[in-house]
Amino acid sequence: DKNDRESLYFAFDLISQFYHYLIKNEKFGNLGLTYLLNRGFTKEIIQKFNIGYAVDSWDTLTHFLQRRKIDLALMEKVGILSKRQFDHKYFDRFRNRIMFPIANHRGKVVSFAGRVLTDEKPKYINTPESEIFHKGNLLFGFHLARQEIKRTNQVILFEGYLDVIKAHQCGVTNCVASMGTSLTETQASLLTRHAETIIICYDSDDAGIEASFRAAAILGKEQHIIKIAKVPNGLDPDDYMTKFGGEKFSSDVIGASQTVMSFKMNYFRRGRDLNDEGDRMRYVEEVIKEIATLTKAVERDHYLRMLSDEFSISLDALKHQQYQIYRQRQ
Ligand code: CTP
Ligand code: MN
Ligand code: MN
Ligand code: MN
Ligand code: MN
Repeated sequence: DKNDRESLYFAFDLISQFYHYLIKNEKFGNLGLTYLLNRGFTKEIIQKFNIGYAVDSWDTLTHFLQRRKIDLALMEKVGILSKRQFDHKYFDRFRNRIMFPIANHRGKVVSFAGRVLTDEKPKYINTPESEIFHKGNLLFGFHLARQEIKRTNQVILFEGYLDVIKAHQCGVTNCVASMGTSLTETQASLLTRHAETIIICYDSDDAGIEASFRAAAILGKEQHIIKIAKVPNGLDPDDYMTKFGGEKFSSDVIGASQTVMSFKMNYFRRGRDLNDEGDRMRYVEEVIKEIATLTKAVERDHYLRMLSDEFSISLDALKHQQYQIYRQRQ
């Protein structure tokens, strides 16, 4: 109920301030701060996103919450604390992790993600869904991006927290993150309600590319411009901006984004030798199938013509083959 929600907002805000205090504290926060500085994050951006550090201890946060008279059972329920089996004592669930507060669209902290400082798994642990946190309804960074999304009528969709945070540091602020999971209908409509152009910029590994196709399919149901931007060399957007900066990211990555179909046409070429007749035919078939999924006749025509020009196949033949695909589907 409303009281529960208010006490959760209150507690999460307090906790985010505590973690943030710790990362700025020389004695307690050095490991966390050094980790972020080594990855190219500045103190200013740590401040802006209120990033924190959970020290390597079983009870630092527990004691703090106790002193502040926060309901520990409630904190266990929302995944901030854990409870020991044998004596039912509460202890800190996040230990030796960088703490990212996740704010809702009004800027209130509703969840935390904690990242390990090493390559250990799991890389992130999160607080679960709760009265105030529905992961699928939320886009990370939205409250900080809203104005610039409106101004540019364009939004960049990343995978990760650190992509959004590094982008802000580099002056690119019309961006949000889907937080790894596949884009939900609610997140999609949030994006399409606020901008005409949506640029999907996921990690350039196979998982990221597959996920961008799924996201594009969900976003593409409405009349919007959906594009895909590919970060080169298997880097993710954060890595890229650390290496090359925000201007180059805007011009070379976002500037080179392609419509979903053009992107797919290039993607299907991977591992094929288009001088080989068999490979070429399989490629053409794959693309025709993809074009057949487009709902607008004008678009289908446009891409079939592109294919026809490139491979010197008559438009009639392409259309005929597409017709057969439709028949097979029925
Ligand atoms: N994610 C998660 N839990 C995991 C792995 C990923 O919740 N175990 C979500 C996080 O929101 C993360 C996003 O998926 O930001 C993208 O994952 P990944 O690319 O693996 O992480 P990065 O954000 O790139 O983090 P880092 O640069 O620190 O590796
Ligand atoms: Mn609710
Ligand atoms: Mn990834
Ligand atoms: Mn990543
Ligand atoms: Mn990364």
